Amino acid sequence: MTKAADLLIRNVHIASMQDNGQPYGLIENACVAIKDGLISHIGSSQDENVRASAEFNGAGQWLLPGLIDCHTHLVFGGNRALEFEMRQQGKSYADIARQGGGIQSTVNATRAASSESLLQGALKRAARLVDEGVTTIEVKSGYGLDTDTEIKMLETAKEIEKHLGVNIITTYLGAHAVPIEYQDNPDEYVQLVCNELIPRIKQQGLASAVDVFCESIGFSPAQCEKVFIAAQKNGLHIKAHVEQLSDLKGAKLAAHYHALSVDHIEYLSSSDVPVLAKAGTVAMLLPGAFYSLRETQLPPIDALRQHKVPIALATDLNPGSSPIASLLTMLNMGCILFGLTPEEALFGVTKNAARALGLVNKGQIALGFTADLGLWDIEHPSQLSYGMNLVRPTRKWLAGQER
Ligand code: NIG
Ligand code: FE
Repeated sequence: MTKAADLLIRNVHIASMQDNGQPYGLIENACVAIKDGLISHIGSSQDENVRASAEFNGAGQWLLPGLIDCHTHLVFGGNRALEFEMRQQGKSYADIARQGGGIQSTVNATRAASSESLLQGALKRAARLVDEGVTTIEVKSGYGLDTDTEIKMLETAKEIEKHLGVNIITTYLGAHAVPIEYQDNPDEYVQLVCNELIPRIKQQGLASAVDVFCESIGFSPAQCEKVFIAAQKNGLHIKAHVEQLSDLKGAKLAAHYHALSVDHIEYLSSSDVPVLAKAGTVAMLLPGAFYSLRETQLPPIDALRQHKVPIALATDLNPGSSPIASLLTMLNMGCILFGLTPEEALFGVTKNAARALGLVNKGQIALGFTADLGLWDIEHPSQLSYGMNLVRPTRKWLAGQER
């Protein structure tokens, strides 16, 4: 059998992240062929039957799926270092938000920023992720809260693709905070999000999902439900920031609307975990926010494991609760702070991260999947989680093209 591929990568160990009964979906001494940007063949390194117009010798390195940062807010204006100063002096994140700081202060800076300066800031942060082997980044809006700025944020996020070798998935997070103009009438803002913004965002193809912040300093479950209904009606995926600071039962509600993921979930009750399992909703852990806000309430990891809820991990890169532009750091934090195994952590930024974004052909090295790949000069994939700032990929491919 002769197959003409575009590229053949030989002599690699593959952490395929497939469900093949091996840890990390391991395939040792293997080769991978790529045709038209997709993985067209996986075989043994000695495989003589595969023909390709180009060959690359991996020299015994590890081939992994490109990493996926499935929850970021990396388009924003300004920074919140002074609020960090305040938090270290004893003020809480929620108190700062209630006094007009927090998300609202980033909203002011983002509204004032030009598209060009937003893009330049976002590119710097995204480039750090890309350098670590990240090939797909989800980016949320939510620091505009008015029509023009929300659209400006989503367009800026998409623009990143033209400058860096990375795929961008955008999410509309209109229900992130009640904008100052609607402080006395938050329900009217929710109506604007549901009746005007969501249909427009769908129509213009500006985002594939809708997200909410379900919290006392964000939106009530009843308000979030309106947003979910509007998203569903307009054929957009649903995601939700829930149970970050308190248990408002937002995860259960989001799962009822078949959310792709529920994110943060430190305060999620173990008794609500079966609902996630039943809905196929991914549990997304954000250890950077847990770390930065010095939280102590741990997400219900054992219950998630017991009910086989897929666990994803992401940076939550944002100027307030997680100013950390490193997905590899999250692997380590997921292990150290939440007790994940390195294998669970890597599934969290590959297969399960793809699922949290509704991407059916990314996050694994498997036949027919997109050839987003990273080559790592390591002895074992646990090395990605084991330390901080120790490893980087030696090569990267995006849909089979070297980057
Ligand atoms: O995921 N929780 C709400 N949103 C962000 C924080 C945004 C901010 O503080 O600017 C988060 O933690
Ligand atoms: Fe977030």
